[in-house]
Amino acid sequence: MCSILGLSGDYDVASAIVDSLQKMEYRGYDSVGVAVNNDSEILVKKGVGKVKVVNDSIHMDKLTGNVGIGHTRWATHGGVTTENAHPHTCNTGSIGVVHNGIIENYVELRKDLEKNHNVVFKSSTDTEVIPNLLQIYFEKSHDVKKAIMDTVQKLKGHYAFVALFKDGQMVGVRNHEPLVLGIGRNDLLLTSDVVGLPENISSVSYIEDKQFVIINKNKYRIYDFEGNVAQSSIKTIPKSYQNVSKGLYEHFTIKEIFEQPKTILVAGEEKNNLEKIVEFIRDSDYVYVTGSGTSYHIAVIAKYLFSRFAGKKVEHVMASEMKYSSQYIIPNSTLFAISQSGESADILESVAIGKTKNAKILSMINSKNSSLARESLYSIGLNCGPEIGVAATKSFTSQMAILYKIADKLCDDCLGINFNTVSDAYEKMLSNTSKIRELAKSIKHIQNIFVIGRGIHYPIAKEGALKIKEITYIHAEGIAGGELKHGPLALMDSSTYVIVINPDDDSYVDNASSIHEIKSRNAKVIGISNKPDANYDYWIEIPTIRTDLYPLIEIIPLQLIAYYLALERGIDPDYPKNLAKSVTVK
Ligand code: F6R
Repeated sequence: MCSILGLSGDYDVASAIVDSLQKMEYRGYDSVGVAVNNDSEILVKKGVGKVKVVNDSIHMDKLTGNVGIGHTRWATHGGVTTENAHPHTCNTGSIGVVHNGIIENYVELRKDLEKNHNVVFKSSTDTEVIPNLLQIYFEKSHDVKKAIMDTVQKLKGHYAFVALFKDGQMVGVRNHEPLVLGIGRNDLLLTSDVVGLPENISSVSYIEDKQFVIINKNKYRIYDFEGNVAQSSIKTIPKSYQNVSKGLYEHFTIKEIFEQPKTILVAGEEKNNLEKIVEFIRDSDYVYVTGSGTSYHIAVIAKYLFSRFAGKKVEHVMASEMKYSSQYIIPNSTLFAISQSGESADILESVAIGKTKNAKILSMINSKNSSLARESLYSIGLNCGPEIGVAATKSFTSQMAILYKIADKLCDDCLGINFNTVSDAYEKMLSNTSKIRELAKSIKHIQNIFVIGRGIHYPIAKEGALKIKEITYIHAEGIAGGELKHGPLALMDSSTYVIVINPDDDSYVDNASSIHEIKSRNAKVIGISNKPDANYDYWIEIPTIRTDLYPLIEIIPLQLIAYYLALERGIDPDYPKNLAKSVTVK
């Protein structure tokens, strides 16, 4: 989603803001803007496009001022235009605002501001009501704190914003959207994500819900929405979160795919939390596992793994669907929430629903300081480092590895997995990608592709299809192999490609029938398997590994197919259109 940023220092801050915005671009990248204070007004530069492109053209980094705000946008209200890009200023030009989230009652606020305060709106965003409300309240009290308290009383919705006043005072406000205060020697920073921290700032304080922080020169103070001073603790952020770069790779997506031989080895390496989570799952009569997108596929995998190896029934629920079936949540059950970011609005909503049923909340997350972590009794960390590519890759395999660890504990070490064998298999598959690149070249013009798998390979097929659709824009569908004959076969002809996830396990024989059904309709089969088969038009070989572990390795060729297809089709896989990492709106 959008990233918001504010920086107060004893130097011209615009260029540092542009650098930080570039690091946070994965959150939204349709437009960008920067504003700095100046004694008489707020100076704004903004435009449509990615940070570098816009900056090269309008030089946002050359603005001069010691306090500034910045934004990268993922449009929700109002099209992708320069007028709708943030920062937005009030009518007098004395207050600028960058905002993440949604102001649900902006239509009525806007009408009131137009009618009763002669405000003329310049954009069609929900955001523009904020600087105008602030200005009206500030004019009354000449007190920043009071103006914020009055304004938040008026706003409905989930939001975080940073407001810059022309005298250089800056305020960060948090209401259900992330906001972090970075504390440097000579500078203070507000950011949606620690990834945006410049290298010289590693101490942070997480602003809690319904709190705001006022920054005046090098001083800050945190308050709750009632105006009481709030206590805060200061944490140190590991360097890996600040020095996020592509290194020698062309894209974050491929860098993150190639990190998996290492990340798979450290997933969930927190003995106590793992044991606690196992204990809760073991002792609960009812366990719900929830997530969105890729993380939902993990919830489905949990069902297969836990039932197969631990005889434990779990129910998977898509986070965004939870509220429509909340009546079926058995009171006092366990809700295991899966999320890379820990900030997805849908997952936070499902957790809130679970809490109304007294469910015990457990979670699996990559960001240990995320909102989800704070809502959970126990969380277990993926430990895979920041994932910047919009398509989840390394987080998926880390999530799966943790599920295997939990399943193993639930069945008293019946699996006894050695993840080094998985890591070695990854190395092997990644050491030669030429066949997948050739495949991508030869199928780059296709319009539809199907991925089939049976049993635990079915959610992997869904995940593979999701990767393909989100970064190649090819329509891709993940289907349970046995379902082909119940409908999808109608779509098969000589222009259709079907990827069959076909490891040599108990799904192999049944897949043979699916392959015949596909071939009889002249469609092409791409087999992902450790075994060759004369019926494959393309064979993507995976290493032979212990049978239970195929799900962990068969996803790698699917990630690579998606990546190389994106390149063949001229798409930047890191920034697919219309998407953003960390979806903080419902
Ligand atoms: C797909 C993808 C998304 C996320 C989904 C949930 O590649 O990245 O589908 O999986 O938005 O995000 P988290 O896991 O951060 O809650």
